[in-house]
Amino acid sequence: MKFGYFDDLNREYVITRPDTPLPWINYLGCQAYFGLISNTAGGYSFYRDARLRRLTRYRYNSVPLDCGGRYVYLRDDESKQFWSPSWQPTRNELEDYTCRHGMGYTVIGSSFKGIEAHTRYFVPLDENLEIWQLTVTNKRTTRATLSAFGSIEFCLWDAQDDATNFQRNFSIGEVEIEDGVIYHKTEYRERRNHFAFFACSRPGAGFDTQREAFLGPNRGWDKPATVEAGQLTDSVAHGWSPIGAHQIRLDLAPGETQQIVFVLGYQENPREQKFDPPGSQTIDKRLVKPVIARYLDGKAADGAFERLRQYWDSLLGIFQVDTPDIHTNRMVNIWNAYQCMATFNLSRSASFFESGIGRGLGFRDSNQDLLGFVHMAPERARERILDLAATQLASGGAYHQYQPLTKRGNNDIGGGFNDDPLWLIVGVSAYLKETGDWSLLDELVPYDNEPGSEAPLYDHLLRSFSYTLERLGPHGLPLIGRADWNDCLNLNCFSSTPGQSFQTTTNKDGEVAESVFIGALFVHAGHELAEIAKRRGLAAEAASYLDKVATMELAVLEHGWDGDWFLRAYDDFGDKVGSRECKEGKIFIESNGFCVLAGIGLEDGKAAKALAATREHLATPHGIVLHQPAYSKYYLNLGEISSYPPGYKENASIFCHVNPWVMIAETRLGHGDEAHDYYSRINPSAREGISDVHRCEPYVYAQMIAGRDAPTFGEAKNSWLTGTAAWNYYAIVQWILGVRTTYEGLEIAPVIPASWPGFTATRTFRGVVYEISIERKGVGNKIALTVDGRPIEGNVVSPPEDGRKRVSIMGILS
Ligand code: BGC
Ligand code: NOJ
Repeated sequence: MKFGYFDDLNREYVITRPDTPLPWINYLGCQAYFGLISNTAGGYSFYRDARLRRLTRYRYNSVPLDCGGRYVYLRDDESKQFWSPSWQPTRNELEDYTCRHGMGYTVIGSSFKGIEAHTRYFVPLDENLEIWQLTVTNKRTTRATLSAFGSIEFCLWDAQDDATNFQRNFSIGEVEIEDGVIYHKTEYRERRNHFAFFACSRPGAGFDTQREAFLGPNRGWDKPATVEAGQLTDSVAHGWSPIGAHQIRLDLAPGETQQIVFVLGYQENPREQKFDPPGSQTIDKRLVKPVIARYLDGKAADGAFERLRQYWDSLLGIFQVDTPDIHTNRMVNIWNAYQCMATFNLSRSASFFESGIGRGLGFRDSNQDLLGFVHMAPERARERILDLAATQLASGGAYHQYQPLTKRGNNDIGGGFNDDPLWLIVGVSAYLKETGDWSLLDELVPYDNEPGSEAPLYDHLLRSFSYTLERLGPHGLPLIGRADWNDCLNLNCFSSTPGQSFQTTTNKDGEVAESVFIGALFVHAGHELAEIAKRRGLAAEAASYLDKVATMELAVLEHGWDGDWFLRAYDDFGDKVGSRECKEGKIFIESNGFCVLAGIGLEDGKAAKALAATREHLATPHGIVLHQPAYSKYYLNLGEISSYPPGYKENASIFCHVNPWVMIAETRLGHGDEAHDYYSRINPSAREGISDVHRCEPYVYAQMIAGRDAPTFGEAKNSWLTGTAAWNYYAIVQWILGVRTTYEGLEIAPVIPASWPGFTATRTFRGVVYEISIERKGVGNKIALTVDGRPIEGNVVSPPEDGRKRVSIMGILS
């Protein structure tokens, strides 16, 4: 069952009924000011940091689920009926409801009793504000006299404090109203130098800033007393809950259309220029007024919208493909790339499953995210890498996360995850391959942001590498520490205290439990490091890294092999995890996928066996589950993984982040059919037809799909902010389509389904546009390339020496 359709030409998903199984959301903003918006206008906004600079309030896990948003109301001032064109919060029976989620914007609208209304929400580039363009058309044969209301509820900045510290917060709310603009200035009097504003393009018939005055006693957003009565009360908030609400009267002739623009934004003043006049408590508005004035003009708003479109056109234009599979095309060309930008911007902080108060930017996560967006925003990738590396510890270890506002690492969600540092090498190598910008490695970057500790970024990579080598266990495999990629495989935790965090508790010395997965990651990252060293003219160093890699590979093959597949780990007792000897959790996806991805066992048949076992034991129609059998009870020695009911999250769900490791692994064995088959099982667009089962948005990946052990097998959760975005993009583009970045140039190595006659693609790479056309003449993966009509040796196309900016590549697969 579907709840909408893809409009690929406009790069939109069009939702045609408001009662989607869950709120289906989109993101506004792509630089510093961000918003989340659901298909019924729910959501909130923040500046840079979803916890520390939250502009508007949102109530997670509310009833109904999606509560608080950018709510517009219309009222027929003759019949006195009122409604919301976005369905929420009034939930009237609407006609022609549609929500178009597009690239950085959302348009929601409907018709009600002959009044057609839609609102376009977006954040202009380079501004810290959002625009709502409300367009109202009278489709009746008679005049319509209406009131339009725009409303938001302010958050008192720190979203965590806002939701808990009521003894203070109910007394501190402050606003100003000047020239019809509502300014939210809670805590501005003392330590803050920022405020929010909510403005409207038309002279208002009234405003409200005190929530209870707007809603009336004991009412919700579904039935504000003032909207019902048709008159706002000009209330001024003192304490309690400041809101912003504007009322505008509209008089529409039959067929007439009018537009109202609302602008909600964030502004900082220089500390010494906070008040006007100085010494008063009134906000100095000289900086903000021109900004507000600019965007209240509908034409300026249209212009800003056009620039936003061009921005996305140019980002997405960097790689476009035309294959025989529509789901591949639309995910690669539009939605997966778009999701990669969202995960880059927000890491795992703010979605409808991440509250924006719990998590900053993850070290491991952000490094992996690079794989998916580095081609679209290389300068920002560079900055991200330097920020991440600056939080690295002198030991080579890493904080698990940092706050984007301060750029400082913290241990709030634990530390000592022994895989973390290695991901830096993976991220940096992706950047180097994309850009060829080797100067990155010479950038001086501190450890733990300590002035005086600066060392070239290259040195950080070496410390990441040594960090693993200095922490090997009894089998010569890497000690797991707090956990590895699987945050919930807590082999040193042994927690039996209710409420204790699995992520921050350690009860064992950590000298025994080892991770085969980190072994594989070390091999993968070590190969990259050696390649980097070689290209820096450090041949001897490179050889020594390869030596270490070879030793690790041997340890994995010897102690990490279970007969038919790769083991997952050794626990604190030295017992196997992910072995046929185990009662539950006999086989895991992570080690099997990543060992083969890293090239382990390709020669001696172990890789092929591991993938066959993965297919036999872990593959389901909805994707590949993490392990089997699922843990049916809690195991003290395994930790959080066994705390989840079977089939959910880390306990044997289909974790979409790691499925692409198996896809890439399959391509390494030349299995295009298998790789693309796995790709299709979790491709959200391919699952659109089962939206009633899948339940999350059909246009973006979710972190997980409930596994076969779950009663809700096939149900997705935790959509949007997940490493799934980058890895699936990377797997389909670089390994299945095989348009792969290398240090030397663009490698063309498709491993596509046998039934595909070929595909075409356009890729802008290091300033050159490559027009790629692949034709299948046989069922294999052997490729012969001609570049601008001339056959070349091998399959790596180096940048043209004569400065040509367009190159055509023809590939024949046989
Ligand atoms: C989740 C993991 C997540 C971790 C973050 C756990 O509860 O299951 O997916 O990585 O928390 O700290
Ligand atoms: C989500 C976390 O963000 C990521 O870092 C982790 O690897 C996976 N969960 C698996 O636990």
